[in-house]
Amino acid sequence: MELFDALLSRTSKRDFLDKPVSIELINKILFASLRAPSWANSQPWEIAVSNGKTSEFIKNSLYELAKNGDAINPDFPFPDSWPKKQEFNMFETGKERFEHIGIGRDDAQKRKEFSLANYKFFNSQTAIFIYIEESLGLWSILDCGMLIQNILLAAHDSGIGACPQAYLVAYPDVLRQAFGLAKNKKFILGISIGYYKMDSKINTIKTFRNDLGEIVKFYD
Ligand SMILES: Cc1cc2nc3c(=O)[nH]c(=O)nc-3n(C[C@H](O)[C@H](O)[C@H](O)COP(=O)(O)O)c2cc1C
Repeated sequence: MELFDALLSRTSKRDFLDKPVSIELINKILFASLRAPSWANSQPWEIAVSNGKTSEFIKNSLYELAKNGDAINPDFPFPDSWPKKQEFNMFETGKERFEHIGIGRDDAQKRKEFSLANYKFFNSQTAIFIYIEESLGLWSILDCGMLIQNILLAAHDSGIGACPQAYLVAYPDVLRQAFGLAKNKKFILGISIGYYKMDSKINTIKTFRNDLGEIVKFYD
């Protein structure tokens, strides 16, 4: 796939097939993705790939916590509020998503089920978790963002889908337990990754973007 085609056609996938992705393919994707730039080539990222029993443990633990309404405690707090423009973009994206998959505005039960599916990796067998050592700062998180985008694009180019998910790091103690990590390892994001249902409604959403003219200003 040409890079521009990949950039223009990648979307988040949220309905995966119960089919494994080979370790070889995950390694191929990660090997290329780790070419991401980072501050002075500091390479702050650490990566845990969850499969098999580890995935089962994480999925069940996260799902139970969320279902019981346990308070989230992400290592990097989720924002409490957003500026108007971002609030609007997020509201419209959510509205379009639920309209697209036919879940009504007042259908709290279905919305909750959809939200809880996050914790089950949207049925994927594999998730990739990105974490860093706690003394690293904001610039290292930016570096990890570049790595994450590479992973999303490399997955797309390989014919598999991925969804970057803050939800997957909402209860990071579960992840530290699953991967045997010390408290000073801090989770940035999880990525569900795998073969996906091509005809599933949720996987055919193309989210909008603000117009280029609204975002970009040229100066001579
Ligand atoms: C930092 C970050 C966190 C995200 N967290 C979630 C999440 O927890 N659950 C989810 O379904 N999607 C999540 N997403 C995916 C976004 O909703 C998605 O990228 C956005 O709506 C644009 O859609 P697209 O990826 O299909 O272009 C996240 C994306 C990013 C970059």
